[in-house]
Amino acid sequence: IKRIRTHHLREMKQRGERFAMLTAYEQYAAQTFDEAGIEVLLVGDSASNNVFANETSLPVTVDELIPLARAVSRSVRRALVVADLPFGSYQASPEQAYLTAVRFMKEANAHAVKLEGGIEMVPQVRKLTEGGIPVMAHIGFTPQSEHNLGGYRVQGRGDAAKKVVEEALAMEEAGAFAVVMEMVPGDVAGEVTDSVGIPTIGIGAGPSCDGQVLVWGDAFGFRTGRMPRFVKQYADIHGVLLEAAREYAADVKAGTFPSDEHTF
Ligand code: KIV
Ligand code: NA
Repeated sequence: IKRIRTHHLREMKQRGERFAMLTAYEQYAAQTFDEAGIEVLLVGDSASNNVFANETSLPVTVDELIPLARAVSRSVRRALVVADLPFGSYQASPEQAYLTAVRFMKEANAHAVKLEGGIEMVPQVRKLTEGGIPVMAHIGFTPQSEHNLGGYRVQGRGDAAKKVVEEALAMEEAGAFAVVMEMVPGDVAGEVTDSVGIPTIGIGAGPSCDGQVLVWGDAFGFRTGRMPRFVKQYADIHGVLLEAAREYAADVKAGTFPSDEHTF
């Protein structure tokens, strides 16, 4: 099995082949997604909500994310493992960004890092890529800026479309190897995809992107409750686990587990 590298994603774009990305936070999901052929696994700061039970992505720390990223990179044979830089760990300066990204590369064996932001992140992206660290950009709706953006809202409608294109071009020019677009109108995402040489990865950005990403607990029904419109549910993991846990509990209470075959 040949490892997916950043240049493979660019070559896929050039061939008109789409690729898939999912979040992963631990061993078994990472192994399963790798086996399924998912090209990119993101140790997202969405671990904040999805692993650590915070309400937003803001509270999660570098020290919390590094062990998750290490577990995921140890668990894959093929997928490219991208680690999210959490809120507050890169915005202050390019130097801060570099020192944080180096920790993910050295301590967690990440293959690349991702950071949120547009034009204002150009110095950070340049510093990281010049320092040998591949950077995935993330524009459109950026959850770490939720309070600045006024909540979960589509970005780049109407006149703001031009800004999304400019941001993507700036990220490419600064050295990013790919760009995530979150909650951007489909036609705008298509225009961005045609305008840049690097692959675009959509989440709530329509079908024209070069790749797609979803939070795995959303896509496979591990999380329950209201989902954003852009999520398609492919499985009901919550239902499977709930049923299994109930059966186990019932067996224990009935004395039917363990039986002879489970007993030394
Ligand atoms: O943290 C995350 O899960 C993400 C993806 C949704 C792109 O940034
Ligand atoms: Na994220």
